[in-house]
Amino acid sequence: MALSPFFVFPHETHMNELDALVDSARVAFAQAATPADLENAKAQYIGKSGRITELMKGMATLSVEEKKTRGAAINLAKQAIEAALAERRQALADAELQAQLKAEALDVTLPGRQRGQGGLHPVSLTLERIEAIFGSQGFEVAEGPEIESDWFNFTALNTPEDHPARSMHDTFYVEGGSAKAPNLLRTHTSPMQIRHAVQHVKRHRAALDAGLPMPEIRVIAPGRTYRVDSDATHSPMFHQCEGLWIGENVSFKDLKVVFTDFCRTFFESDDLVLRFRPSFFPFTEPSAEIDIQFQSGPLAGRWLEVAGSGQVHPNVVRNMGLDPERYIGFAFGMGPDRLTMLRYGVNDLRLFFDGDIRFLSQFR
Ligand code: PHE
Repeated sequence: MALSPFFVFPHETHMNELDALVDSARVAFAQAATPADLENAKAQYIGKSGRITELMKGMATLSVEEKKTRGAAINLAKQAIEAALAERRQALADAELQAQLKAEALDVTLPGRQRGQGGLHPVSLTLERIEAIFGSQGFEVAEGPEIESDWFNFTALNTPEDHPARSMHDTFYVEGGSAKAPNLLRTHTSPMQIRHAVQHVKRHRAALDAGLPMPEIRVIAPGRTYRVDSDATHSPMFHQCEGLWIGENVSFKDLKVVFTDFCRTFFESDDLVLRFRPSFFPFTEPSAEIDIQFQSGPLAGRWLEVAGSGQVHPNVVRNMGLDPERYIGFAFGMGPDRLTMLRYGVNDLRLFFDGDIRFLSQFR
């Protein structure tokens, strides 16, 4: 129905007042930035002494009929304020949740933490290769101490008192031995010849005593060795691999066959040739340096020294506990570091021991 502009609805002023109250509550709630602010704002409108409660109290003087209309209107306003409150509460809770989710967000597109891929050191790769090749030729692998006694490192190996390797200048002497028998960092793996042979003889004592043939000694002994020496091709710590083959009928010819086979397998090169160059070691007689020559590739044509060798000296055979009239054989000592340099074309030995991951990771 169209109202006359002159007709004044009896409660219009009240209705406007209530609408304004609801509006101001909406504004107050919207301005509340936190749940605590919101609860304070709520108290001003629908709390015990809030505006709505006051309006309710103000109805006391009204007639029953007026109370009905007025009460219903106030209730509507109250409901509107409560609805606005609930809405704002929800909005604040949502915002809080969003902020929390944002703060705790996981970026699943970040690359995961990598598990570093390790690998064997190039010299270890060479040692494994040496062990596999000699293993296929019936050689055992023996290991021994790096702190050695003067006896095993020198004396038992027929190395005279005045040998230059015995001087303080060449050798790392360490505490623990006596003045007559000092301890030292082994200067080569040759002491393993004695250590292993003595064990072998002990194991076959009964057969030997009965005059029965002893199973041949066929062993390699890889490991770390030490000398006071340091430049591009010498490191104070380096590796050697000893070889020993002792029996009743083992000759230089066997050494040549075994070592040629080893080098060709190791370098995967059938046309590689060997040269036995006369040399001297106190513990072998005769002695020879073993040189190899590649017929193709970057190193072709050059003689490269890879090992010392020789027929085991009778005095050494005796120190093994064997009769040199009956037992004979050969020994060799090669340098796995040098073999590694040749195999991979590395020109500075120190790279192997610097621990630089950029160098080492190339051999993974
Ligand atoms: N021990 C010798 C060296 O260090 C090498 C070698 C071993 C020579 C066995 C002969 C026999 O140079």
